[in-house]
Amino acid sequence: MGKLLIVDDDQNLLDLLQMRLESEGHEVIATAREEEAIEAAKDQIFDLSIVDLQLAHLNGISLMNDLHLIQPEMPVIILTGYGSIESAVEAMRKGAFNYLTKPFEPEDLLLQVERALENRRLTSEVKRLEGLLEERYGFDQIVARSQKMQKVLEMVSQIARTDSTVYIHGESGTGKELIAKAIHLGSERKSKSFVAINCAALPEPLLESKLFGHEKGAFTGAVKSSKGLFAQAHEGTIFLDEIGDMSLPIQAKLLRVLQERQFYPVGSETLVEVDVRVLVATNKDLENQVKQGLFREDLFYRIHVIPIYLPPLRERKEDIPLLVEHFLKKFNQQMKKEVRGLTPEAMQKLMLYDWPGNIRELENVIEFAVALSPNELISDNLILQTKEKAISQEPLKPLKEAKEAYEKTYLINLLQICHGNVSQAAKMAGKYRADFYDLLKKHGLKSEDFKKPS
Ligand SMILES: Nc1ncnc2c1ncn2[C@@H]1O[C@H](COP(=O)(O)OP(=O)(O)OP(=O)(O)O)[C@@H](O)[C@H]1O
Ligand SMILES: [Mg+2]
Repeated sequence: MGKLLIVDDDQNLLDLLQMRLESEGHEVIATAREEEAIEAAKDQIFDLSIVDLQLAHLNGISLMNDLHLIQPEMPVIILTGYGSIESAVEAMRKGAFNYLTKPFEPEDLLLQVERALENRRLTSEVKRLEGLLEERYGFDQIVARSQKMQKVLEMVSQIARTDSTVYIHGESGTGKELIAKAIHLGSERKSKSFVAINCAALPEPLLESKLFGHEKGAFTGAVKSSKGLFAQAHEGTIFLDEIGDMSLPIQAKLLRVLQERQFYPVGSETLVEVDVRVLVATNKDLENQVKQGLFREDLFYRIHVIPIYLPPLRERKEDIPLLVEHFLKKFNQQMKKEVRGLTPEAMQKLMLYDWPGNIRELENVIEFAVALSPNELISDNLILQTKEKAISQEPLKPLKEAKEAYEKTYLINLLQICHGNVSQAAKMAGKYRADFYDLLKKHGLKSEDFKKPS
């Protein structure tokens, strides 16, 4: 028995399907309206959905895509009209579980539904994702399933071998450094050094000597001469991260290096010549900085040769399931755990969130959940719990209720961390055992439910 979502604008067929499937014992939500289907998928979990190809407003395939942006692992069966085999093929290619050509025999429908549900039970999300992972684009550590990211990687592979300066921009945490490394590794300089520096992290004089080196005695504290990062990157690649934070005097010096590939170390009169590929990154709007006079216009054009834009995660949510899989593997290895995946509710929560911190934030969320998950499936209470407010658009609760809710979440987390060991949990909460039991009772929690499965 499963919970099914059916979307068809033919009301007669819709009623018929609903009756048929309910008589088999399934729970069915049927609607003729696309928006209603989306809303339903946002607030409950379905085991399967059946979608007509020709809906009133949307094409069934785009509705399927929208549904998969909320519940990526839900199998979808597409109903197609007679003779639309091409659309059926397209639907399969875009991730439909199967299709049925109208008119179909009721037995065929039931058979397909059974198969989809069975498949959903057996091959937990992990399996499906493993398949998807293999489709992953070349670059080893970069997950990119969305069209937007595939385009980025295509661009990367085209320009990696050139010596042109690359300008990588995008919000914080979108993977700028990862892309910079990929460019280096895809170039003929890959056996030489990749030197990265965050220009925002150092005050001006230090940054200058760090980049270009200095002579012994060039300034107080310069007890030894130093070579500088540009010289270290000779024949390799230098990555100037957060270039928007570089001060104007250093910008001038950098401009010369880019034009002439030579410079004077601080306090030195010997010209140093280097052969370096330059990559830069910024999460600021540099054009705006130029307008404000904070960034040199001539330098901007020098570095803005090949721009690569990394879209924020909220614009490519299709990447989330694969990224999750990728990070699960990583943290399982690191923490020697065997977390297999997420419950559908947990995954839904990730898909509905906005990700202001992008992939770095997602990575942190998964790390937290792997660390604390007592089970092999991560449940939704471990996901984004501190950010609950951002997800639910519910109105604020009265203080008393909010306190109660917080107390309950706190207790659940605590019990998970302590694997249901009440003495330990009470100690961590700073409560006497007896009082702690009272608290559990008040919230209807049982410590046994949190014991590690043996
Ligand atoms: N497509 C991706 N596949 C796998 N991991 C990714 C991907 N994009 C980013 N990451 C991971 O997310 C984290 C953040 O990426 P990175 O440091 O490259 O972002 P950034 O854009 O340089 O961020 P910031 O602007 O804050 O410096 C890293 O751990 C990186 O490995
Ligand atoms: Mg970075």
